[in-house]
Amino acid sequence: MRFSPSLLDEIRARLPVSQVVGRKVALKKKGREYSGLSPFKSEKSPSFFVNDQKGFYHCFASGEHGDIFTFLMKTEGLEFPEAVERLAQEAGVQLPKATERNVEQEDQRDRLYRLLEASASFFEESFKQPLGAEARRYVLDKRGLQRETIAAFRLGFAPNSRSALKEHLKAQGFSIPDMVASGMLIGGDDIPEPYDRFRNRVMFPIQDLKGRVIAFGGRALDKDAPAKYLNSPETPLFHKGGVLFNAARARPLAHDRNRIIAVEGYMDVVALTEGGFGEAVAPLGTALTEDQVKLMWRIVPEPVLCFDGDSAGRKAAFRAVDTVLPHLKPGMSVAFAFLPDGLDPDDLIRQQSPAAMGEVLSNTRPLIDMLWDRETHAGPTETPEQRAALESRLRALAAQIADPLVKSHYDRELRDRLYQFGRQRRDMGRQDREMGRDGGTYPPRGQGPQKGTSYARPVSVTDWKAIERQRLSGRPQPRFKRFDGQPVPAASAGAELSSQAQPVPPREALILKTMLNHPDLIDQDCEVLAELVFTSKPLGALRDEVLAIHARTISLDSTTLHTQLTKSGVAKVVDLVARTMTHASDRFAEQNASATEVAAAWHHILALQQREGNLMHALKAATDAWDREGSEEAWARLHDIKREIARLDAIDMDGVSQDSVNDRPALGPPDAKRAS
Ligand code: UTP
Ligand code: MN
Repeated sequence: MRFSPSLLDEIRARLPVSQVVGRKVALKKKGREYSGLSPFKSEKSPSFFVNDQKGFYHCFASGEHGDIFTFLMKTEGLEFPEAVERLAQEAGVQLPKATERNVEQEDQRDRLYRLLEASASFFEESFKQPLGAEARRYVLDKRGLQRETIAAFRLGFAPNSRSALKEHLKAQGFSIPDMVASGMLIGGDDIPEPYDRFRNRVMFPIQDLKGRVIAFGGRALDKDAPAKYLNSPETPLFHKGGVLFNAARARPLAHDRNRIIAVEGYMDVVALTEGGFGEAVAPLGTALTEDQVKLMWRIVPEPVLCFDGDSAGRKAAFRAVDTVLPHLKPGMSVAFAFLPDGLDPDDLIRQQSPAAMGEVLSNTRPLIDMLWDRETHAGPTETPEQRAALESRLRALAAQIADPLVKSHYDRELRDRLYQFGRQRRDMGRQDREMGRDGGTYPPRGQGPQKGTSYARPVSVTDWKAIERQRLSGRPQPRFKRFDGQPVPAASAGAELSSQAQPVPPREALILKTMLNHPDLIDQDCEVLAELVFTSKPLGALRDEVLAIHARTISLDSTTLHTQLTKSGVAKVVDLVARTMTHASDRFAEQNASATEVAAAWHHILALQQREGNLMHALKAATDAWDREGSEEAWARLHDIKREIARLDAIDMDGVSQDSVNDRPALGPPDAKRAS
């Protein structure tokens, strides 16, 4: 116990409850007590009472009861020690000299701060030494960071050694137990020789609001490292859930610009800073916590939370809604920004421009839209009963909001929306009946609130349907359900193609082109070919057709194959494949390519396609796991897979010599590199 009961009593004695409460609640004196409208629950007649003699408040509406300390904790989200410190100061009560145990704890904290600072300097120094050459190459050349950025963020390098840091700290007089307690060494009862936690990693120091180093995140340089990012464990100085990366540097800028941006990764923050958005912070490998949101609220009233534009990002955004909702205060909320699918802020800024990022950040959606979207898409809303279920879910959500005023505004707005929604649905049903269509399936055309209502929202990159369309057209995923639960509609090769809705994935077209021009390859690889996942339905169907013809024809040549395909009505797809423009390096697919040319390239692209198939399966499994568990691991895994898919696509775009594929662990065999 840090504060003695007598100290707390002294503060209580000096500060009447009515004085502390009176700043938040208009109180009227009634005899010995004061009364007012409950700050915990919205109400019209006062059921909130304060008694200065007894030193407590009581709320008959919500059952809340407590003293000055609990009042600050409940209404301002302070921790107990913070409430005590604040009120002690107000009361002019000196906080006690630390007890012996406190002295011991404070001493340890001091030592740990110094130890972490020494570690940060050591990593910075190692980065500059010859042994930091690879780290420098990675950070400067590969990631394209400027030297000033590296210095400002104090990026460093942890050498590939189990004792480099340990020896360095030992020489500076730090003890092994402190090194373990600080998280810099891994030690424990079953570990006879504690060793450096961070090895062969680019180091990102994590600082508290005062700019003191309290932890590290390390990015692996070795593609085979078990974790791409490794963070310090919980320590006396570091509580993951309450810290944001870059908060100290972002704070003054955020304050000036009245904006703070929360993104997912360290590299995103660094890239944002280089792109002119220094007001960026990131949680530390976990979903955003309540404490982190409160931390941002101390800086600006509406932090912008930035998420991927895909279903996982959407899921994470929904989760943030649940985290934030209970803690909303008048004027305090969060806004949601969504990135184009497949890009993180770092990618967007480097592949497109800071302006593209600015665009994303200026197209935010308010929390209530997210809530509304989620609930209206959570189940059918055809019937009055189903809409009643929707209403009851919405009410339950609004009830979670602790602040009575915000809660009452949510109640009101949600009621308005429901009313509009019900009317819109009825109108649409009528229109549909009049026009002979079957009665509306949700989402209605021009879904969501109509223009002209107070909550009309811009159609932008953040429009779910647009995002989803973009996702489906860019990377259609047959066999998998879309995130709204609807199966991707099946289509025959001819039918879907004729609509010309979907671009042709180049690699898939290339595989088919090769099959068509070099049918002898089919013999040796027909099993692999049968198993390949094609994201384009028409091309997948063509593959099936080619294999079927191959199976019933002895010694198939290119001319016979074309004749047969024309008969089976897929001539259009064949044409399309034949017309597909390919890189100069893809000459092997042409009919006149030599056998050696073909052999060299064919297995390489097959391997890439197999890998893509594996990734698609892994993506599905990871998305399911994330939907099911919502755990940190599931999130990290999902991300790894998505990056890997993006990387695979980059190989297609840049040709096979691109080396970016080399710095990632392969998620499933066969590995593209080995296959080449
Ligand atoms: P990402 O996998 O999205 O990486 O992880 P990134 O930020 O784009 O990193 P680069 O560009 O590949 O270097 C986002 C964040 O999730 C946490 C880290 O905080 C990372 O910044 N993370 C990720 C982990 O904690 N562990 C992991 O293994 C992976
Ligand atoms: Mn990245």
